[in-house]
Amino acid sequence: MAQQVQGVIARAKGEPVRIETITVPDPGPGEAVVKVQACGVCHTDLHYREGSINDDFPFLLGHEAAGVVESVGEGVTEVAPGDFVILNWRAVCGQCRACLRGRPQYCFDTHNARQKMTLADGTELSPALGIGAFAEKTLVAAGQCTKVDPDASPAAAGLLGCGVMAGIGAALNTGNVGRGDSVAVIGCGGVGNAAVMGARLAGAAKIIAVDIDDKKLETAKVLGATHTVNSRSSDPVEAVRELTGGYGADVVIEAVGRPETYEQAFYARDLAGTVVLVGVPTPDMRIELPLLDVFGRGGALKSSWYGDCLPSRDFPMLIDLHRQGRLDLDAFVTETIALEDVEKAFERMRHGDVLRSVVMF
Ligand code: APR
Ligand code: ZN
Ligand code: ZN
Repeated sequence: MAQQVQGVIARAKGEPVRIETITVPDPGPGEAVVKVQACGVCHTDLHYREGSINDDFPFLLGHEAAGVVESVGEGVTEVAPGDFVILNWRAVCGQCRACLRGRPQYCFDTHNARQKMTLADGTELSPALGIGAFAEKTLVAAGQCTKVDPDASPAAAGLLGCGVMAGIGAALNTGNVGRGDSVAVIGCGGVGNAAVMGARLAGAAKIIAVDIDDKKLETAKVLGATHTVNSRSSDPVEAVRELTGGYGADVVIEAVGRPETYEQAFYARDLAGTVVLVGVPTPDMRIELPLLDVFGRGGALKSSWYGDCLPSRDFPMLIDLHRQGRLDLDAFVTETIALEDVEKAFERMRHGDVLRSVVMF
């Protein structure tokens, strides 16, 4: 039996979101219905609401979520009713060239649920990032559910579904930060501060946090930064060089997504160092670099897509570390809110007041 639940809907470009009744169909083959327990408010939700991702309104927002599988469709073996799961953006095929080469984040054949959730009048909804978890229940592909230790707090677990995973993964998976490395993180919002935590987890000796906001730098210190640089008051490239004996950092992680910070990241690394780009630029942005600098600096320039994560490998591992007190996911939960307060949370996000607001059900 299809079910009716409440969900946060963005109807049109720039309009405030509102709560509406939605219909969640029974799971079909390869699908699962998940009872959502917690869902973080991410910038991408706001981007959907503002129409800057695509025009497929109406959207059912929310995508950083954890919950319990309620029912599964035919042929589902990945998860069973009662499993505590973290949702990921899309199920990967496991068989294409990208999957076989160990880069599943570039899978050629990802999928989400085939059926659509709908509004009361039958209008089909576009779930944010193929999830749509600002709702009491949501329909996803079973492969989007990763089972983790049920003792983990849902608020902390849900965060691994997006921004925090992107940051930790930028350090661990894309940057391959190693024991004793020096790491600079440019931009210490939710993603950058998660990268700081990832660098600490990997055993980095120096973790230099760079931001224009002292509040964010304070948090970075709590999460493991050994040095902080406010790039409003000092040149971050010079500062990183000074702090690394004149060389630059072994790994520089850019978590802003702007031309000036991309350029800073490029020059703040050691000649053999790695630049990890996790901040997402807009289509109009450009940088210009002397080719001799591109040639003369070895190392690597890598973009990090969803923290190069493999959910089935990374989610349970990070939840275990969290449960052991070695990964402070709770530090990212600035506030827990009700479903009705998502619009207010967007406002706070615009002011840079929060790392994460998390809707609890
Ligand atoms: N130099 C350094 N830090 C900056 C600068 C700058 N020029 N401009 C902004 N910042 C800082 C902000 O002060 C803030 O702390 O960058 C941080 C951005 O953080 P959030 O707005 O919380 O964004 P977040 O969710 O962390 O995402 C950052 O990563 O995955 C991408 O799409 C995401 O592009 C976005 C980026
Ligand atoms: Zn694939
Ligand atoms: Zn997100």
